[in-house]
Amino acid sequence: MDAKPVNIYEYEEIARGKLGRGEYDFIAGAATDEITLRRTRAVLDSIMMKPRMLVDISERDLSTTVLGQEISFPVMLDPAGNHSAAHPEAELATVRAAGAAGTLMALSAQASRTLEEVAQAATGPIWFQQYFFKDRGLTLEMARRAEEAGYSALCLTVDAKVKPKRERNIRNDYKGPASPNYAADLNIAGSNWSFGLDAPTGANDIRDPAAAWADLDWLAANTRLPLVVKGIMVAEDGYQSAEYGAKAVIVSNHGTRYLDTTFATIEVLPEVVDAVDGRIEVYMDGGIRRGSDVFKALALGARAVLIGRPLFWGLAVDGEEGVKSVLEILRDELDATMGMCGKTTVESIDRDSLGGVSPLLSLLPAAPQFL
Ligand SMILES: Cc1cc2nc3c(=O)[nH]c(=O)nc-3n(C[C@H](O)[C@H](O)[C@H](O)COP(=O)(O)O)c2cc1C
Repeated sequence: MDAKPVNIYEYEEIARGKLGRGEYDFIAGAATDEITLRRTRAVLDSIMMKPRMLVDISERDLSTTVLGQEISFPVMLDPAGNHSAAHPEAELATVRAAGAAGTLMALSAQASRTLEEVAQAATGPIWFQQYFFKDRGLTLEMARRAEEAGYSALCLTVDAKVKPKRERNIRNDYKGPASPNYAADLNIAGSNWSFGLDAPTGANDIRDPAAAWADLDWLAANTRLPLVVKGIMVAEDGYQSAEYGAKAVIVSNHGTRYLDTTFATIEVLPEVVDAVDGRIEVYMDGGIRRGSDVFKALALGARAVLIGRPLFWGLAVDGEEGVKSVLEILRDELDATMGMCGKTTVESIDRDSLGGVSPLLSLLPAAPQFL
């Protein structure tokens, strides 16, 4: 490999050169016009931080806990399907990297390796992500397998009930492989349910469009694993998640891969944090590319963040080492940001460190709007 990339954007650039067009677009792409994909970075970039001086920052502790399990810094790996699109060792490389970096990986229901294989390779905490399937027996069977294999939480993705329009995949005629976590006969009519690019909405999909809040209660009563609801974007849904038995929510718009022109997740994070009012934990994903982004999410109330696309860039560039390096870059950048903002623990990061509106706005009649 040439010189080691120094940031996540460089990882993406090199990964782009290594991956086929179909794979790169599958990972990088989002729904329809990709407006929120761009908005997410614009919003994160426009939140300003307030550096603080002459605070003793000699000892900084980035560790925290999620659902009682310790992680060495507040960045986890999102559930994301088909890691084999980026590297032949797929989720086995990713889970080893997560363990080596002292953090947690959530395994996608659409992983390229079985959940048992990935659990065996894990050296750190792991969660399993699944959906409400039309077949409730299958829903429970997946939960049982995750329990038995040693996963410590079930991450329920609730924002993926409708087939999204991802135009890059349509143009490239991209179809990912089926997941080995399901029997072959679930790939009805040869149409891979997990991507379903050419299926009419919902037709060949084993996921249940009828799933509702009561199903969360039902699953919570039928598994000993805590439930993490992924895909919350409004206060009411955060509140409902707590009411119906979830132990945590992930404020997420699925990397804007389903509905376009939503707010960026960082914009709605505070309302969800307020709505759950400390009853359950709140995490956030979407567009995290810098340690300063992690800092901003924590300042606005997230307990931890997760990353999706960056793990693929690390995998594509250098397999396990690449994912570990992506995580270490974010850790180092967060550590430096904390130090420069006078913070020594992740718990102490709060809104006082942020500024959203330029101080010039009150001084100049026609000051530029940044947000
Ligand atoms: C290639 C790819 C596959 C994904 N597959 C899943 C999935 O199987 N289940 C899921 O809940 N989210 C999935 N996601 C969404 C991620 O979990 C996450 O919400 C999103 O990527 C976060 O945004 P970021 O990529 O900007 O970090 C996927 C994302 C990508 C990029």
